[in-house]
Amino acid sequence: MLVTFKFILIWAQNYTIYCTIEIFCVILQHFFKIIRLLYMLRIAVQSKGRLFDDTMNLLSEADIKVSATKRTLLVQSSNFPLEVLYLRDDDIPQSVASGVADIGVVGENEFVERGEDAEVISRLGFSKCRLSLAIPKEINYTGPKWFDGKKIATSYPNILRRFMQEQGINAEIHVITGSVEISPGIGLADGIFDIVSSGSTLVSNNLREVEVVMQSEALLIGHKGMDAEKHAILEQMLFRFKAVKDAEDKKYVRMNAPKAHLNEIISVLPGLKSPTIIPLADDDWCSVHAVLDQKRFWEIIGKLKEMGAQGILVTPIEKMIL
Ligand code: PRP
Ligand code: ZN
Repeated sequence: MLVTFKFILIWAQNYTIYCTIEIFCVILQHFFKIIRLLYMLRIAVQSKGRLFDDTMNLLSEADIKVSATKRTLLVQSSNFPLEVLYLRDDDIPQSVASGVADIGVVGENEFVERGEDAEVISRLGFSKCRLSLAIPKEINYTGPKWFDGKKIATSYPNILRRFMQEQGINAEIHVITGSVEISPGIGLADGIFDIVSSGSTLVSNNLREVEVVMQSEALLIGHKGMDAEKHAILEQMLFRFKAVKDAEDKKYVRMNAPKAHLNEIISVLPGLKSPTIIPLADDDWCSVHAVLDQKRFWEIIGKLKEMGAQGILVTPIEKMIL
């Protein structure tokens, strides 16, 4: 009887210690989670559409993993102190200006239209489009003054109003949020002011672009009162973005070059500093490695072949740290 009682007592003591340790661990875990969240940078990204795909590609090329399948409102990266807040594109400028998000990727058109107080950190160079005026294609267009007294449908009233003031045009602006392109066809407006990218929406609605008012691309915008810790994370992210951007449109080229023409070959290769020359078993030949710009690629390859280069191998570059 006594032995059983002692056994229960020891068990109860051990169980209490075990529980205490368990509770302590849970508290510790939550503590670290809160600390981690405090030092996360929050980026607002369009939840669908052209900007979503391009932004996700950029993050993935910068080796910042964000689960694309877990499309909840807020998703944390598994390997970088970044959390992604998925929003409608027209809500992004305000969310960054107010500090709900620290940074955001937004089309320049949307940013200029909203006029919110956030800073432009960098131009991202993707999702390029333009904001243009378009009219039914059979109409004889006589210049901006044609719009005098007409009705224009748009989702960008502020940009359009500014353009009209500059040009001295007196037209009626009709604000609609979607399917602007069908307005002239259903008699809602005489012309439209909308995004043009490939131009296929205009063509399929029998419209013709007559004035390009503004060029636009994706911008990385930031909250003006960001603290030093968040700035440090932003710097790390920008460093990676730059490495990805610098590698874009560049190719790594290796070739066998006859030593007799080596100087000529080197003279056409731009290289980061100078091309790498590696000796080969055959004394008359060497291997030359260099980085070429995509724009001048075929021109340079042509010259190299004329100069006797052989076995030219071309590989893409993932990242370039200059
Ligand atoms: C824009 C715009 C046109 C289309 C133009 O819409 O309003 O509908 O793109 O592109 P295209 O010249 O390549 O045909 P978006 O796809 O951004 O969707 P939204 O109208 O819902 O904003
Ligand atoms: Zn549209």
